[in-house]
Amino acid sequence: MNILILGSGGREHALAWAVKQNPKCDRLIVAPGNAGIAQVAECAALDIMDGSAVVQFCANQSIDFVIIGPEAPLAVGVADDLRAAGILCFGPSKMAAQLEASKAFTKDICDASGAPTAGYAHFKDADAARAYVKEQGAPIVIKADGLAAGKGVVVAMDIDTALAALDDMFDGSFGDAGAEVVIEEFMDGEEASFFILTDGENALPIGTAQDHKRAFDGDEGPNTGGMGAYSPAPIMTDAVVAKAMDEIVRPTIAEMAKRGMPYQGVLYAGFMIKDGQPRLVEYNARFGDPECQVLMMRLGAQALDLLLACAKGELDTAQVNWAEDHAITVVMAAKGYPGSYEKGTAINGLDALSQDSKNMVFHAGTALIDGQLSATGGRVLNVTARGDSLKDARDRAYAMIDQIDWPEGFNRSDIGWRAL
Ligand code: AMP
Ligand code: GLY
Repeated sequence: MNILILGSGGREHALAWAVKQNPKCDRLIVAPGNAGIAQVAECAALDIMDGSAVVQFCANQSIDFVIIGPEAPLAVGVADDLRAAGILCFGPSKMAAQLEASKAFTKDICDASGAPTAGYAHFKDADAARAYVKEQGAPIVIKADGLAAGKGVVVAMDIDTALAALDDMFDGSFGDAGAEVVIEEFMDGEEASFFILTDGENALPIGTAQDHKRAFDGDEGPNTGGMGAYSPAPIMTDAVVAKAMDEIVRPTIAEMAKRGMPYQGVLYAGFMIKDGQPRLVEYNARFGDPECQVLMMRLGAQALDLLLACAKGELDTAQVNWAEDHAITVVMAAKGYPGSYEKGTAINGLDALSQDSKNMVFHAGTALIDGQLSATGGRVLNVTARGDSLKDARDRAYAMIDQIDWPEGFNRSDIGWRAL
């Protein structure tokens, strides 16, 4: 079959790499793609936010199946446009993608389905929000409603920080995302991510992971999109997974179906876990980046069969073939990220690395400039390895990094520390 993947990050490179290994895949196009993706797929220029352009592209290129990587096209309804045109598509509808796009919507779903999560209130009025924060006290969590590219959350350890965050959000520094603010109880515990495929009715867990959000070693520095991840997450024991499925995931899927907006795609649940009890922090309507890279490394070619079963509503008979393995990915980012950084710097040494089913460098912000592999984004490479133990995978990932020559890049040296 002919397959189109939308996106251009390390997540989409990992998806393309896994999908391409499956004999069902004849032709693979990624739009817009990047320099690493171009080694496994055709890259095409296409405005992935324009549903009718994507539908037209699929008709022209005889595409049988579309996999939507990032949240932005989901939030504007590209999956709806594809399905309306009769094109098989992996990814939730615009209505269902509200689970990521609106924090207030997700809290309402949790209330209706009884899923454990932080206590909360939402506000459109700044004075009422300030009064509530003073009454609740710190620590407390202030969130802009809507998509704010991961920057709309302030975990305030004191009242002044919380009030300052409210001022920022109501002053419009988050655009429309801050017009409504959710104020949450602070949850203590250890965070983990859980990925579940659902066709709207059936749910199939496909893996757990933990990422590292802070820029620097020792979980210091500013928050980023993620500096590394590993799978599985040891804190997600069978008992925690079972509780999460029974108390949070299945009730959510049932509530979405009941509201006439069945969720089809991957549900990425972020949990805070304390004393064996998971509570929901947030849902995302897509794979995590870089969490997807470790999941794809572990799933390999079967990923395509699973995504197809999900899109076709056939998850009731789908199964994951698990290996007892571990995967880790270390992000190499441009110095300065998540702040400002130089673009166009040269990266060398990748050609000499042997890349296979256990060692892969997935590309995020890269391009070929006059034949030279160059960094074009903040997060640039995802050095990924799989092994019998997390330590083995970690050692091989860092051995690959030692061979990559990119003086303007940096990476954390402690990815996986918690599990190791
Ligand atoms: P979110 O965008 O909702 O995932 O929030 C970003 C990060 O803020 C999460 O990954 C947590 O580390 C932290 N966070 C969010 N909500 C809470 C909460 N209620 N209690 C403690 N930490 C939180
Ligand atoms: N790595 C976090 C995310 O994809 O949202």
